[in-house]
Amino acid sequence: MHPCSSSCLPRREFLKTVAASMAVATVATTAAAATVAAPGLASPAHAQNTTQNVSQDGPVVLPALPYAPNALEPVISANTLGFHHGKHHAGYVTNANRLLKDSGITATSLEEIVKVSATQKKQALFNNAAQVYNHNLYWQSLTPGGGAIPPKMAELLTRDFGSVDAAKKALADCAVGRFASGWAWLVADPAANGALKIMDTMNADTPLTMGLTPLLVIDVWEHAYYLDYQNKRADHVAAVIDKLLDWNAALARLEQAA
Ligand SMILES: [Fe+2]
Repeated sequence: MHPCSSSCLPRREFLKTVAASMAVATVATTAAAATVAAPGLASPAHAQNTTQNVSQDGPVVLPALPYAPNALEPVISANTLGFHHGKHHAGYVTNANRLLKDSGITATSLEEIVKVSATQKKQALFNNAAQVYNHNLYWQSLTPGGGAIPPKMAELLTRDFGSVDAAKKALADCAVGRFASGWAWLVADPAANGALKIMDTMNADTPLTMGLTPLLVIDVWEHAYYLDYQNKRADHVAAVIDKLLDWNAALARLEQAA
């Protein structure tokens, strides 16, 4: 877990954030977060669910996609979406439930399972539960055709990054620069008066355990793009930022957390 560039979390601030995250990891989740379903918003109005939430053998579930499998084409093919959601995401759900059984952890909300497994250093359970959480948010960070940036979000991005274009560039740089597998995030930092920040995390690591409010996320594991883009991660990231990110959903998450 680390900031990605000078436009992201300064190192000293990042270390403070990590320390704070360890402190908050033992705090029970809020009532709003105490669900096993996807984090953030309910399905958007355009949703055309083609699958139902899939209950696995435990409290962690695979949420249905909030759009049709081909709805993100041509940026993300139905083939990629099918494998990503139906195999990778589903696999994390299955593994999280299996590992939870023998963990001694009694939490039933996904957010709490992620936080407690991190605190107790149950790495395998954390990896799988956090990947479920991250993917839940990922699908809700995208919308067919993308979404215009609402004025309030544009104002906040300009306040914290200098301009909307600068914020987009910082996010792209973060996603492309993430070495190996991980995630690029737009988050709000309650400890910094709600400032918006861009950061990347490695493997399954998530801002959820750092006291930050995740707003948008881009998956840069190879399984997210390799079938469509092979090694051209930068092309995939640029297309996602330009054509798929749901900035309205990000603003709604920010307002929900306030
Ligand atoms: Fe993924």
